[in-house]
Amino acid sequence: MLKLANGSEIPALGLGVWQVPDGPVCERAVTAALESGYRLIDTAQAYGNEASVGRALRSSGVPRGEIFLTTKFHPGRRDPLAEMEKSLERLDTAYVDLYLVHWPQGGATVAWPGMEAAHAAGLAKGIGVSNFSAAELAEVSAVAEVPPMVNQFQYSPFVDRRGLVEACLAAGVVPQGYSPLGTGEHLDDPVVAKIAAATGRTAAQVLIRWSLQRGVSVIPKSSRPARIEENFGALDFSLDEESMAALDALDTTQHTAEAKAADEKWWS
Ligand SMILES: NC(=O)c1ccc[n+]([C@@H]2O[C@H](COP(=O)([O-])OP(=O)(O)OC[C@H]3O[C@@H](n4cnc5c(N)ncnc54)[C@H](OP(=O)(O)O)[C@@H]3O)[C@@H](O)[C@H]2O)c1
Repeated sequence: MLKLANGSEIPALGLGVWQVPDGPVCERAVTAALESGYRLIDTAQAYGNEASVGRALRSSGVPRGEIFLTTKFHPGRRDPLAEMEKSLERLDTAYVDLYLVHWPQGGATVAWPGMEAAHAAGLAKGIGVSNFSAAELAEVSAVAEVPPMVNQFQYSPFVDRRGLVEACLAAGVVPQGYSPLGTGEHLDDPVVAKIAAATGRTAAQVLIRWSLQRGVSVIPKSSRPARIEENFGALDFSLDEESMAALDALDTTQHTAEAKAADEKWWS
Protein backbone atom coordinates (compact mmCIF):
# COMPACT_ATOMS: atom_id res chain seq x y z
CA MET A 1 0.00 0.00 0.00
CA LEU A 2 1.16 3.55 -0.74
CA LYS A 3 -0.23 6.62 0.98
CA LEU A 4 -2.03 9.31 -1.03
CA ALA A 5 -2.07 13.00 -0.08
CA ASN A 6 -5.78 12.67 0.87
CA GLY A 7 -4.80 10.16 3.58
CA SER A 8 -6.19 7.10 1.82
CA GLU A 9 -4.07 4.16 0.68
CA ILE A 10 -3.61 2.85 -2.85
CA PRO A 11 -2.56 -0.79 -3.36
CA ALA A 12 0.92 -1.13 -4.83
CA LEU A 13 -0.27 -3.69 -7.41
CA GLY A 14 -3.44 -3.56 -9.52
CA LEU A 15 -5.03 -4.85 -12.70
CA GLY A 16 -5.04 -2.60 -15.79
CA VAL A 17 -7.74 -3.21 -18.39
CA TRP A 18 -6.61 -1.26 -21.45
CA GLN A 19 -7.34 -3.36 -24.57
CA VAL A 20 -9.47 -5.82 -22.58
CA PRO A 21 -12.62 -6.11 -24.68
CA ASP A 22 -15.85 -4.85 -23.11
CA GLY A 23 -18.21 -7.68 -22.15
CA PRO A 24 -17.48 -11.16 -20.78
CA VAL A 25 -13.69 -11.03 -21.31
CA CYS A 26 -13.36 -7.88 -19.20
CA GLU A 27 -15.83 -9.13 -16.58
CA ARG A 28 -13.92 -12.40 -16.30
CA ALA A 29 -10.57 -10.61 -15.96
CA VAL A 30 -11.79 -8.29 -13.19
CA THR A 31 -13.52 -11.19 -11.42
CA ALA A 32 -10.33 -13.28 -11.60
CA ALA A 33 -8.29 -10.38 -10.26
CA LEU A 34 -10.57 -9.88 -7.25
CA GLU A 35 -10.51 -13.62 -6.57
CA SER A 36 -6.68 -13.61 -6.70
CA GLY A 37 -6.57 -10.80 -4.13
CA TYR A 38 -6.21 -7.66 -6.28
CA ARG A 39 -7.99 -4.65 -4.82
CA LEU A 40 -6.94 -2.00 -7.39
CA ILE A 41 -8.58 -1.87 -10.83
CA ASP A 42 -7.45 0.68 -13.44
CA THR A 43 -9.82 1.60 -16.28
CA ALA A 44 -10.48 4.77 -18.33
CA GLN A 45 -13.21 6.45 -20.32
CA ALA A 46 -11.08 5.82 -23.40
CA TYR A 47 -11.00 2.04 -22.82
CA GLY A 48 -14.74 1.59 -23.41
CA ASN A 49 -15.06 -1.09 -20.72
CA GLU A 50 -16.21 0.76 -17.59
CA ALA A 51 -19.62 -0.98 -17.65
CA SER A 52 -17.97 -4.43 -17.61
CA VAL A 53 -15.67 -3.37 -14.77
CA GLY A 54 -18.72 -2.17 -12.83
CA ARG A 55 -20.64 -5.41 -13.37
CA ALA A 56 -17.69 -7.52 -12.21
CA LEU A 57 -17.19 -5.37 -9.09
CA ARG A 58 -20.87 -5.63 -8.19
CA SER A 59 -21.13 -9.38 -8.71
CA SER A 60 -17.90 -10.13 -6.81
CA GLY A 61 -19.45 -9.54 -3.41
CA VAL A 62 -16.28 -7.71 -2.32
CA PRO A 63 -17.38 -4.66 -0.34
CA ARG A 64 -16.98 -1.47 -2.39
CA GLY A 65 -14.96 0.09 0.43
CA GLU A 66 -12.26 -2.57 0.02
CA ILE A 67 -11.75 -1.83 -3.67
CA PHE A 68 -9.63 0.99 -5.09
CA LEU A 69 -11.16 1.98 -8.43
CA THR A 70 -9.44 4.30 -10.90
CA THR A 71 -10.84 5.80 -14.07
CA LYS A 72 -9.47 8.53 -16.32
CA PHE A 73 -10.93 11.65 -17.91
CA HIS A 74 -10.72 11.62 -21.70
CA PRO A 75 -9.03 14.98 -22.42
CA GLY A 76 -10.63 15.19 -25.86
CA ARG A 77 -13.88 15.91 -24.02
CA ARG A 78 -14.79 19.21 -22.39
CA ASP A 79 -16.04 18.79 -18.87
CA PRO A 80 -14.35 16.47 -16.34
CA LEU A 81 -17.26 16.75 -13.88
CA ALA A 82 -19.93 15.85 -16.47
CA GLU A 83 -17.76 12.99 -17.77
CA MET A 84 -17.24 11.76 -14.20
CA GLU A 85 -21.01 11.54 -13.73
CA LYS A 86 -21.29 9.45 -16.92
CA SER A 87 -18.42 7.18 -15.81
CA LEU A 88 -20.11 6.58 -12.46
CA GLU A 89 -23.30 5.55 -14.23
CA ARG A 90 -21.38 3.07 -16.38
CA LEU A 91 -19.37 1.82 -13.38
CA ASP A 92 -22.59 1.60 -11.34
CA THR A 93 -20.94 3.08 -8.28
CA ALA A 94 -21.26 6.29 -6.26
CA TYR A 95 -17.62 7.35 -6.45
CA VAL A 96 -14.20 6.44 -7.81
CA ASP A 97 -11.13 6.36 -5.60
CA LEU A 98 -9.01 8.05 -8.23
CA TYR A 99 -9.80 10.13 -11.33
CA LEU A 100 -6.83 10.95 -13.59
CA VAL A 101 -6.43 13.38 -16.49
CA HIS A 102 -5.45 10.76 -19.07
CA TRP A 103 -2.92 12.97 -20.90
CA PRO A 104 -2.09 16.72 -21.00
CA GLN A 105 -3.99 17.57 -24.18
CA GLY A 106 -4.41 21.32 -24.67
CA GLY A 107 -1.96 22.11 -21.84
CA ALA A 108 -1.21 20.84 -18.36
CA THR A 109 -3.77 22.88 -16.41
CA VAL A 110 -6.84 23.04 -18.66
CA ALA A 111 -8.72 20.08 -17.15
CA TRP A 112 -7.74 20.69 -13.53
CA PRO A 113 -10.61 22.98 -12.36
CA GLY A 114 -13.09 20.33 -13.60
CA MET A 115 -11.15 17.59 -11.83
CA GLU A 116 -11.30 19.64 -8.62
CA ALA A 117 -15.05 20.04 -9.13
CA ALA A 118 -15.45 16.23 -9.35
CA HIS A 119 -13.43 15.95 -6.15
CA ALA A 120 -15.42 18.68 -4.34
CA ALA A 121 -18.67 16.92 -5.31
CA GLY A 122 -17.40 13.73 -3.63
CA LEU A 123 -17.50 11.80 -6.90
CA ALA A 124 -13.71 11.35 -7.07
CA LYS A 125 -12.07 10.79 -3.68
CA GLY A 126 -8.66 11.31 -5.24
CA ILE A 127 -7.57 13.21 -8.36
CA GLY A 128 -4.39 13.06 -10.36
CA VAL A 129 -2.75 13.06 -13.76
CA SER A 130 -1.24 10.67 -16.29
CA ASN A 131 1.48 11.12 -18.89
CA PHE A 132 2.54 14.41 -17.25
CA SER A 133 6.25 15.33 -17.20
CA ALA A 134 7.88 16.78 -14.08
CA ALA A 135 7.46 20.28 -15.58
CA GLU A 136 3.76 19.69 -16.38
CA LEU A 137 3.17 18.31 -12.89
CA ALA A 138 4.73 21.45 -11.42
CA GLU A 139 2.47 23.63 -13.62
CA VAL A 140 -0.64 21.91 -12.23
CA SER A 141 0.61 22.04 -8.65
CA ALA A 142 1.27 25.78 -9.03
CA VAL A 143 -2.41 26.56 -9.80
CA ALA A 144 -4.12 23.74 -7.91
CA GLU A 145 -6.31 24.15 -4.84
CA VAL A 146 -6.21 20.35 -4.54
CA PRO A 147 -2.81 19.16 -5.82
CA PRO A 148 -2.54 15.99 -7.95
CA MET A 149 -2.22 12.87 -5.78
CA VAL A 150 -0.91 10.46 -8.45
CA ASN A 151 0.97 10.67 -11.75
CA GLN A 152 0.63 7.53 -13.90
CA PHE A 153 3.22 7.08 -16.65
CA GLN A 154 5.02 4.41 -18.67
CA TYR A 155 7.60 2.76 -16.45
CA SER A 156 9.68 -0.42 -16.59
CA PRO A 157 13.39 -1.31 -16.42
CA PHE A 158 13.58 -0.40 -20.12
CA VAL A 159 11.75 2.90 -19.60
CA ASP A 160 13.11 3.90 -16.21
CA ARG A 161 11.83 7.48 -15.87
CA ARG A 162 13.69 7.87 -12.60
CA GLY A 163 13.80 11.67 -12.89
CA LEU A 164 10.01 11.68 -13.05
CA VAL A 165 9.66 9.26 -10.11
CA GLU A 166 11.93 11.53 -8.04
CA ALA A 167 9.97 14.66 -9.03
CA CYS A 168 6.71 12.94 -8.02
CA LEU A 169 8.08 11.82 -4.65
CA ALA A 170 9.50 15.29 -3.95
CA ALA A 171 6.04 16.80 -4.64
CA GLY A 172 4.16 14.25 -2.48
CA VAL A 173 2.65 12.64 -5.60
CA VAL A 174 2.45 8.82 -5.79
CA PRO A 175 4.16 7.55 -8.97
CA GLN A 176 2.26 4.79 -10.75
CA GLY A 177 3.78 2.83 -13.62
CA TYR A 178 1.93 1.52 -16.65
CA SER A 179 3.06 -1.01 -19.26
CA PRO A 180 5.40 -2.76 -16.78
CA LEU A 181 5.77 -5.62 -19.29
CA GLY A 182 6.23 -3.23 -22.22
CA THR A 183 2.73 -4.28 -23.37
CA GLY A 184 4.25 -7.79 -23.55
CA GLU A 185 7.38 -6.81 -25.47
CA HIS A 186 9.85 -7.05 -22.56
CA LEU A 187 8.93 -10.61 -21.59
CA ASP A 188 11.43 -12.26 -23.92
CA ASP A 189 14.44 -10.16 -22.96
CA PRO A 190 17.44 -12.39 -22.12
CA VAL A 191 18.48 -10.42 -19.01
CA VAL A 192 14.95 -10.70 -17.62
CA ALA A 193 14.80 -14.40 -18.57
CA LYS A 194 18.09 -15.10 -16.79
CA ILE A 195 16.92 -13.42 -13.57
CA ALA A 196 13.59 -15.26 -13.81
CA ALA A 197 15.40 -18.61 -14.13
CA ALA A 198 17.75 -17.82 -11.24
CA THR A 199 14.92 -16.77 -8.90
CA GLY A 200 12.48 -19.50 -9.96
CA ARG A 201 9.99 -16.82 -11.01
CA THR A 202 8.48 -15.82 -14.34
CA ALA A 203 9.64 -12.94 -16.53
CA ALA A 204 6.38 -11.08 -15.84
CA GLN A 205 6.84 -11.44 -12.08
CA VAL A 206 10.44 -10.16 -12.30
CA LEU A 207 9.42 -7.07 -14.29
CA ILE A 208 6.51 -6.26 -11.98
CA ARG A 209 8.67 -6.84 -8.90
CA TRP A 210 11.30 -4.39 -10.15
CA SER A 211 8.70 -1.58 -10.22
CA LEU A 212 7.39 -2.50 -6.76
CA GLN A 213 10.92 -2.41 -5.31
CA ARG A 214 11.41 1.05 -6.84
CA GLY A 215 8.44 2.24 -4.71
CA VAL A 216 6.20 2.65 -7.75
CA SER A 217 2.58 1.42 -7.84
CA VAL A 218 2.12 -0.82 -10.88
CA ILE A 219 -0.86 -2.02 -12.95
CA PRO A 220 -0.02 -4.94 -15.29
CA LYS A 221 -2.74 -6.00 -17.73
CA SER A 222 -3.85 -9.47 -18.68
CA SER A 223 -7.17 -10.78 -19.89
CA ARG A 224 -6.26 -14.35 -18.82
CA PRO A 225 -7.09 -15.51 -15.27
CA ALA A 226 -3.97 -17.71 -14.93
CA ARG A 227 -1.67 -14.81 -15.86
CA ILE A 228 -3.61 -12.40 -13.64
CA GLU A 229 -2.90 -14.73 -10.71
CA GLU A 230 0.72 -15.22 -11.78
CA ASN A 231 1.28 -11.45 -11.90
CA PHE A 232 -0.08 -11.06 -8.36
CA GLY A 233 2.71 -13.41 -7.24
CA ALA A 234 5.11 -10.48 -7.72
CA LEU A 235 4.13 -9.48 -4.19
CA ASP A 236 5.58 -12.64 -2.58
CA PHE A 237 9.30 -12.46 -3.32
CA SER A 238 12.14 -9.99 -3.63
CA LEU A 239 14.91 -9.34 -6.10
CA ASP A 240 18.41 -9.03 -4.69
CA GLU A 241 20.60 -5.99 -5.32
CA GLU A 242 22.51 -7.67 -8.12
CA SER A 243 19.31 -8.50 -10.04
CA MET A 244 17.96 -4.98 -9.49
CA ALA A 245 21.21 -3.52 -10.84
CA ALA A 246 21.12 -5.80 -13.92
CA LEU A 247 17.56 -4.64 -14.61
CA ASP A 248 18.48 -0.98 -14.00
CA ALA A 249 21.10 -1.30 -16.75
CA LEU A 250 18.33 -1.92 -19.33
CA ASP A 251 17.10 1.71 -19.21
CA THR A 252 16.84 3.47 -22.58
CA THR A 253 15.60 6.87 -21.31
CA GLN A 254 18.68 8.18 -19.45
CA HIS A 255 16.39 8.32 -16.40
CA THR A 256 14.32 11.08 -17.91
CA ALA A 257 11.86 13.35 -16.06
CA GLU A 258 9.72 13.47 -19.23
CA ALA A 259 6.62 11.26 -19.35
CA LYS A 260 6.96 10.64 -23.10
CA ALA A 261 9.54 11.29 -25.80
CA ALA A 262 8.49 14.15 -28.13
CA ASP A 263 7.54 11.72 -30.94
CA GLU A 264 5.39 9.55 -28.62
CA LYS A 265 2.88 12.23 -27.60
CA TRP A 266 -0.21 10.97 -29.41
CA TRP A 267 -2.26 13.97 -28.25
CA SER A 268 -0.13 16.78 -29.77
N1 LIG B 1 -2.36 6.12 -18.65
C1 LIG B 1 -2.05 5.67 -19.86
O1 LIG B 1 -1.91 6.43 -20.85
C2 LIG B 1 -1.83 4.19 -20.03
C3 LIG B 1 -1.21 3.72 -21.20
C4 LIG B 1 -0.99 2.33 -21.31
C5 LIG B 1 -1.40 1.51 -20.27
N2 LIG B 1 -2.02 2.00 -19.17
C6 LIG B 1 -2.51 1.11 -18.07
O2 LIG B 1 -1.49 0.17 -17.72
C7 LIG B 1 -1.99 -1.14 -17.90
C8 LIG B 1 -0.85 -2.09 -18.29
O3 LIG B 1 -0.16 -1.68 -19.44
P1 LIG B 1 -0.28 -2.42 -20.85
O4 LIG B 1 -1.66 -2.85 -21.05
O5 LIG B 1 0.35 -1.53 -21.86
O6 LIG B 1 0.65 -3.66 -20.79
P2 LIG B 1 1.54 -4.60 -19.85
O7 LIG B 1 0.86 -4.82 -18.55
O8 LIG B 1 2.91 -4.08 -19.88
O9 LIG B 1 1.51 -5.96 -20.71
C9 LIG B 1 0.30 -6.57 -21.08
C10 LIG B 1 0.61 -7.60 -22.15
O10 LIG B 1 1.39 -8.66 -21.61
C11 LIG B 1 0.66 -9.89 -21.67
N3 LIG B 1 0.83 -10.52 -20.35
C12 LIG B 1 0.37 -10.11 -19.15
N4 LIG B 1 0.77 -10.92 -18.17
C13 LIG B 1 1.50 -11.89 -18.75
C14 LIG B 1 2.17 -13.01 -18.24
N5 LIG B 1 2.17 -13.29 -16.93
N6 LIG B 1 2.83 -13.81 -19.12
C15 LIG B 1 2.84 -13.53 -20.45
N7 LIG B 1 2.22 -12.47 -20.99
C16 LIG B 1 1.56 -11.65 -20.14
C17 LIG B 1 -0.78 -9.52 -21.94
O11 LIG B 1 -1.42 -10.52 -22.74
P3 LIG B 1 -2.81 -11.22 -22.31
O12 LIG B 1 -3.79 -10.15 -21.96
O13 LIG B 1 -3.17 -11.98 -23.52
O14 LIG B 1 -2.46 -12.09 -21.13
C18 LIG B 1 -0.64 -8.23 -22.74
O15 LIG B 1 -0.36 -8.50 -24.09
C19 LIG B 1 -3.08 -0.96 -18.97
O16 LIG B 1 -3.98 -2.04 -19.03
C20 LIG B 1 -3.73 0.31 -18.49
O17 LIG B 1 -4.60 0.07 -17.39
C21 LIG B 1 -2.22 3.33 -19.03
